[in-house]
Amino acid sequence: MFLVIVLAVSLLANAAASAETGDFMYNGFNSANLSLDGLAVVTGNGLLRLTNVTNQKVSHAFYPDPITFKNSPSGAVHSFSTTFVFAIIPEYPAQGGHGFTFVIAPRREIPGARPGHFFGLFNETNIGNVTNHIFAVEFDTVQNIELRDINDNHVGIDVNGLTSVKSSSAGYTENNVQGFRNLSLISGKAMQAWVDYDGLQKHIIVTLAPVNVDKPSSPLLSLSYNLSPIFIETMYVGFSSSTGSLYTSHYILGWSFRVNGQAQRLDLSKLPRLPHKKKKQKSNLLTTGLPFICLFILSILVFAVAYAIRKHRKFAEVLEDWERDYSPHRFKYIDLYVATKGFGDEELLGVGGFGRVYRGVLPTTKTEIAVKRVSHESKQGMREFIAEIISIGRLCHRNIVTLLGYCRRKGELLLVYDYMPNGSLDKYLYNQPKVTLNWSQRFRVIKGVSYGLSYLHEGWEQVVIHRDIKASNILLDSELNGRLGDFGLAKLYNHGTDPQSTHVVGTLGYMAPENTRTARATTSTDVYAFGAFLLEVACGRRPIEVREDDDVILVEWVYSCWDKGDILEARDPNLGTDFVAKEVELVLQLGLLCSQSQPTARPSMRQVVQYLEGDLAMQELSSLGISRSGNGFPFACHEGFSTPSIPYPFSTDKAFSQTSSVADSLLSGGR
Ligand SMILES: Nc1ncnc2c1ncn2[C@@H]1O[C@H](COP(=O)(O)OP(=O)(O)OP(=O)(O)O)[C@@H](O)[C@H]1O
Ligand SMILES: *[C@@H]1O[C@H](CO)[C@@H](O)[C@H](O)[C@H]1NC(C)=O
Ligand SMILES: *[C@@H]1O[C@H](CO)[C@@H](O)[C@H](O)[C@H]1NC(C)=O
Ligand SMILES: *[C@@H]1O[C@H](CO)[C@@H](O)[C@H](O)[C@H]1NC(C)=O
Ligand SMILES: *[C@@H]1O[C@H](CO)[C@@H](O)[C@H](O)[C@H]1NC(C)=O
Ligand SMILES: *[C@@H]1O[C@H](CO)[C@@H](O)[C@H](O)[C@H]1NC(C)=O
Ligand SMILES: [Mg+2]
Repeated sequence: MFLVIVLAVSLLANAAASAETGDFMYNGFNSANLSLDGLAVVTGNGLLRLTNVTNQKVSHAFYPDPITFKNSPSGAVHSFSTTFVFAIIPEYPAQGGHGFTFVIAPRREIPGARPGHFFGLFNETNIGNVTNHIFAVEFDTVQNIELRDINDNHVGIDVNGLTSVKSSSAGYTENNVQGFRNLSLISGKAMQAWVDYDGLQKHIIVTLAPVNVDKPSSPLLSLSYNLSPIFIETMYVGFSSSTGSLYTSHYILGWSFRVNGQAQRLDLSKLPRLPHKKKKQKSNLLTTGLPFICLFILSILVFAVAYAIRKHRKFAEVLEDWERDYSPHRFKYIDLYVATKGFGDEELLGVGGFGRVYRGVLPTTKTEIAVKRVSHESKQGMREFIAEIISIGRLCHRNIVTLLGYCRRKGELLLVYDYMPNGSLDKYLYNQPKVTLNWSQRFRVIKGVSYGLSYLHEGWEQVVIHRDIKASNILLDSELNGRLGDFGLAKLYNHGTDPQSTHVVGTLGYMAPENTRTARATTSTDVYAFGAFLLEVACGRRPIEVREDDDVILVEWVYSCWDKGDILEARDPNLGTDFVAKEVELVLQLGLLCSQSQPTARPSMRQVVQYLEGDLAMQELSSLGISRSGNGFPFACHEGFSTPSIPYPFSTDKAFSQTSSVADSLLSGGR
């Protein structure tokens, strides 16, 4: 019996002792045995999460054991003290809901309590009723007008209801620092709160501060209030929370509580870490958007760089030190590209042996230009060539196509010439031309070209050999003046080749016989070509014409006409009767004179000019050493032509750009 009594007493004492303890501390809740309901959970790392993101839900977390606050039903409430660290992390920054409370309630369960602004403590029927016996400190993040909330970021002391007895906007006054500082409850940052009740003075103080800031000596809320009528003898302490339509997570990181004394200090270093949810929630747009934005920016960058590189490559040029002297004559490739509309086919003027020629308009000066793109792999001779063409370009002779400048790229040379609106002479001569030139026009062209060539040979401080005189290289300006184009280009192609080799540049039929043997261009090889050109213009035929039965070699044919005593028979039938017989005869005879196989027998260009001007009387050809039949044929133009080891100017381009008859005669007739 005694034993039973002792057992009963000790049991009772145990129960009483456990109820009276009222002193605990949690630095993280892993070891805690809290009474949880609703959404409340203790996360893996020891955080007490009152709510997760589900909306319109309530949650409670109570210390499992009841705590004795009064010694008797009518007695006074003991002093108590609590502190806790919390954080409110809303899904969207600046929009939280609804907050949480520290609560002291008569029971661990609060059935029938509603979410939202009821904080899971009351419902419409019992809110404000004295029979609730509930004391709470609210951390409210939604302003509710019915409950006379001061704002959406306040701390309030509530008794039996949620219309606070006293409330204040969240903030703190740091010790030894002047001025009140606002705190945003939904900032997602950890904050510490203290609630202290002085049972003797019947005074409640609530204090708030950011975590790591010492407890401020001036509290946020200070209220004289006697809790004795509210409390029953044993009560449960804990937290309650609720969410409205907005998703918010409410976390408690640590908590300590004590009846009749100061709550123990939390060890802030031991508190569990908050999830990095704040950033995630705050910048949902950023977390999902940022990689895309980064990717986007990156791809734009990559594209821009690739474009720049491509553009750089596309418009890359070659510029060497020695070219500085010629910089005024240097064109930017991009300018030429723009001028010729990207070297488009509609701007193509023609295709020659050295490359394509495009028409263009310089964007800055609006001058019309012709751009010749010459592919050129070797650097050899380039320097001399540019020096020469630039110096000739400076001459500005009215019978020479002005070279405006050049541009160099890898494997390519671009020459910029004045645009000649009437094109090249060849198209007025052969193949039943739509437009043909009358005799006075032709004579003017002939004289013009002779001035030009004579100037190249003798009028300039250095002797310049044209090397490629032919009808297609004579261009006609707007007044139908003949102008020499393409000077010197052939030379560029001779450079870099073995001087012993027979690799010769020129066009067949215009090439002097000694030129095909020695590959040495001289003024007299130019004169020879000029002679072929004279015959061409007067006869309207190419120097070599391929026929089914027999090829016609122009020089031979003119010679045979002369031999028969009627040189005029050789004239171009397109001339009709509108010609000056003396002049035609002069040109034909001069043509023969220049076409002699013996270089020394040919006149110089100065003499040619004098003949054409009439300053030098044309003597009978026979008296100049050209004899009529029997005494041997003095025009050996076909000599090279019939030689098996015929030197051929170009391997690729040039072959196809030849006037087809010449090329054909070479390829077929030569074998
Ligand atoms: N400055 C220019 N103005 C107008 N048209 C031009 C000019 N230069 C050349 N052309 C045109 O471009 C065509 C091609 O010229 P290109 O000099 O490349 O070839 P080609 O004279 O037939 O042969 P070659 O390569 O032996 O000179 C010419 O037939 C001419 O109609
Ligand atoms: C946790 O608390 C409940 C309710 O008070 C109790 O039933 C349970 O035994 C406790 N568990 C532990 C491990 O303390
Ligand atoms: C929220 O917590 C409750 C209770 O632990 C759980 O059933 C629910 O799945 C959780 N929701 C989310 C979104 O985590
Ligand atoms: C309100 O809460 C009380 C006590 O928790 C409960 O008895 C009552 O049924 C609830 N009323 C409603 C309407 O939910
Ligand atoms: C308070 O609640 C009690 C019991 O639930 C009820 O009888 C009483 O009428 C309520 N008082 C008010 C003012 O609502
Ligand atoms: C602090 O908050 C109060 C209330 O919201 C406001 O009136 C005051 O301007 C705020 N002070 C500062 C410095 O932001
Ligand atoms: Mg040409």
